[in-house]
Amino acid sequence: MSRSNIKLGLKSLCVKYENRVVGTLALDKNKKVAFSYDEGWLADGFSISPFSLPLEEKVFIPEQYHYDGLFGIFADSLPDAWGRLLLSRVLKEHHIEQEITVLDRLALVGKNGMGALTYEPDYELVTTESINDLDYLSEQCRQVLQTAYAEDLDALYEMAGSSGGARPKILTHLEEKDWMIKFPAHVDRNDIGKLEYDYSLCAKKCGIDMTETKLFPSKECKGYFGTVLFDRDEKKNRIHMATAAALLEADFNVPCMDYHTLMKLTRILTGEKKQDIENMFRRMCFNVFSHNRDDHAKNFTFLYHKETDRWGLSPAYDLTYSNTYFGEHTTSIDGNGANPGEKELMNVGIKAGMKQKECSEILHFIKSTVAHDLREYL
Ligand SMILES: Nc1ncnc2c1ncn2[C@@H]1O[C@H](COP(=O)(O)OP(=O)(O)OP(=O)(O)O)[C@@H](O)[C@H]1O
Ligand SMILES: [Mg+2]
Repeated sequence: MSRSNIKLGLKSLCVKYENRVVGTLALDKNKKVAFSYDEGWLADGFSISPFSLPLEEKVFIPEQYHYDGLFGIFADSLPDAWGRLLLSRVLKEHHIEQEITVLDRLALVGKNGMGALTYEPDYELVTTESINDLDYLSEQCRQVLQTAYAEDLDALYEMAGSSGGARPKILTHLEEKDWMIKFPAHVDRNDIGKLEYDYSLCAKKCGIDMTETKLFPSKECKGYFGTVLFDRDEKKNRIHMATAAALLEADFNVPCMDYHTLMKLTRILTGEKKQDIENMFRRMCFNVFSHNRDDHAKNFTFLYHKETDRWGLSPAYDLTYSNTYFGEHTTSIDGNGANPGEKELMNVGIKAGMKQKECSEILHFIKSTVAHDLREYL
């Protein structure tokens, strides 16, 4: 749809999956966004968010007001801080000053969001060629963060406009693969790309499932971190995904979870899949020992596998050295966010049904691997 056809102030929107209608979103008078499944989808579709949107003929209205009135699963399609910043700059650049609704934002995502859900109408604000010079793009991101101006703002928006997370990033196709490539934010150390890459190698060694990662070369810094996207398969089919925040309708901006909750979520959603429960336990141990404290509810994702009609844990992402505002883990470990140790980690594993010996072996292996491989960062 061309820019002249963009009509802001939308009151309803169609949600699709693989070009099939899933249902309708509608803004109610309290500024909450109601959702109902389409009749056809009710017949042979699946629940897109099993706890809050079971597959039932009903008008669902969010109980809380965490995501500008949206259910978490639709908020997952919206960009976070970086994409929102780009959008506001692009709107300004194109002199669109009208206030936009949350449904307008979803229409601006249209078919370009992460995961498998798409939205109609699908508004395209800009059409540009993508750019492959990563140093140039990184500099453009820096300009966006530090000034109100960037020469290639439209290209940045098109390449990253619908991605999640706070850091500058792009989604791009390189070397026959789909990548997310991240650039340093102004608060980041200059070697953040290399750090995240080293963290990913160590995490894989610790038995944590991740997609291929790569350090893309740079003339300006030690490199840019890239990760192959997991929300599409080899045949380019898009995979439906949901963050823990979306599934639990949890506000990811405030510390609201414990790893007990995450383990319970993994058990229920995956139907007690041992491999996923164990992988979640490994991620918790890794986050504690590698000082990844920004372990918020949007940094854990589950994928829906349509062939088996089952949910599974997604590959891990966003594993870096991080502090939070209060210096504590955003997701506490057996109630302890400040200085969790072996006792708390064991309690979480055992409560989730894992054997004491297994927990202890995994925990000690991860502790020593992290201490050795990431020693320059800790
Ligand atoms: N390999 C991947 N495949 C598909 N989606 C991904 C992948 N890696 C990350 N994502 C999605 O992109 C979002 C942003 O990625 P990431 O968390 O790494 O960025 P960030 O900007 O560092 O985040 P934060 O704001 O948590 O610091 C994630 O929340 C996740 O939904
Ligand atoms: Mg993140």
